[in-house]
Amino acid sequence: MYTQGDLLYEGKAKKIYSVNDNEDLVWLEYKDSLTAFNALKKGSFDGKGLVNAQITALIYDHFEKQGIQTHIVKIQSPRDHICERLKMIDLEVVVRNTLAGSTAKKFQIEEGTALEKPLLEFFYKKDELQDPFISDDQALMLKTVEKQSHLDEIKLKALKVNDVLFELMDKSGIRLIDFKIEFGWSKDGKIVLGDEVTPDSCRLWEKGSDEKLDKDRFRRDLGKVEESYQKVLKSLKENI
Ligand code: TMP
Ligand code: ASP
Repeated sequence: MYTQGDLLYEGKAKKIYSVNDNEDLVWLEYKDSLTAFNALKKGSFDGKGLVNAQITALIYDHFEKQGIQTHIVKIQSPRDHICERLKMIDLEVVVRNTLAGSTAKKFQIEEGTALEKPLLEFFYKKDELQDPFISDDQALMLKTVEKQSHLDEIKLKALKVNDVLFELMDKSGIRLIDFKIEFGWSKDGKIVLGDEVTPDSCRLWEKGSDEKLDKDRFRRDLGKVEESYQKVLKSLKENI
């Protein structure tokens, strides 16, 4: 049985605790808070942590079955996961299937424009700099990883996540527009998927209506935030 140790870090959506008597693990607690625009906009709803923890648990279990290694070791409670302690890589890896959000805005291309092939982008994970877009060479200059081959491996893994997640969402009646994931180094030197996959970190549009079922509802004040997150959970549960 695992017991919760000290609080190591509090992020915008999760708290990370140590696990007593086990240096190789951390205890992740999903919070009810919602933030956007680097926490300039703040909100929350009761049960948000619970719904996101359950969504990540379902998706990561599916990933493992499809050969994608994730950090989850055990579902401790519906809101708490015991995870491998990874040395996180300071990259936000974004994959887009349909253009939306920052890249649509940057190039003045209409949101919803289909992409011929998935578009992968790196952002440097640094709150003080508002997580800027970076090139491969900049990622190396900043020493996010040691070598180009690591970036290549991250890209391959992110594209595999895209394939598996796209299909899972599609089966659940949801269009996977884009998402952000994060990787870390495991103790045995592997690049492992960490963090979360939730409506906070993805753009998810309902098939047919194109209704937004993700954090854009909060970012853009569209209402029905909680309802939409619950809809994603329900659809996944019914179709996984
Ligand atoms: P973007 O269009 O704002 O660059 O976002 C791309 C995807 O990444 C989208 O699914 C939302 C997600 N995302 C995060 O998870 N965290 C962030 O801090 C940002 C900016 C985006
Ligand atoms: N994740 C960032 C924040 O919490 C930005 C966003 O998702 O819009 O502020």
